[in-house]
Amino acid sequence: MLKKINDGKLINFIFLDKTPKEVFSVPGKTLLEVAHANKIDLEGACEGSLACSTCHVILDKKLYQSLEEPSDREYDLLDQAFMPCSTSRLGCQVKVDERLRNSTVRLPRATRNMAVDGFKPQPH
Ligand code: FES
Repeated sequence: MLKKINDGKLINFIFLDKTPKEVFSVPGKTLLEVAHANKIDLEGACEGSLACSTCHVILDKKLYQSLEEPSDREYDLLDQAFMPCSTSRLGCQVKVDERLRNSTVRLPRATRNMAVDGFKPQPH
């Protein structure tokens, strides 16, 4: 349905978790916001305040290279993420724009949550 009413302003991309899910977003939203709006299991414990690594995502190489370089703080936090790779980013730091169209954003197999009991804060 959304595809039918999409006049090209919405940007589509795929969150790849256990099963792929195509999502649509207006430009300017962060990957974390889009994930939460679509019930994608991307945590975001610090709610985008750049204080955790639970919003870790893995981008296509082409997409990664097209984006601005992460800040030093983001690099520091990515070092603390579970199995970061050369195209890792924090989902709260990447905003949707045309470069995301038709791309794939992969969720890592696990996140390094500061809570040890599996607790996951719900998005507000
Ligand atoms: Fe904590 Fe992105 S939600 S750094």
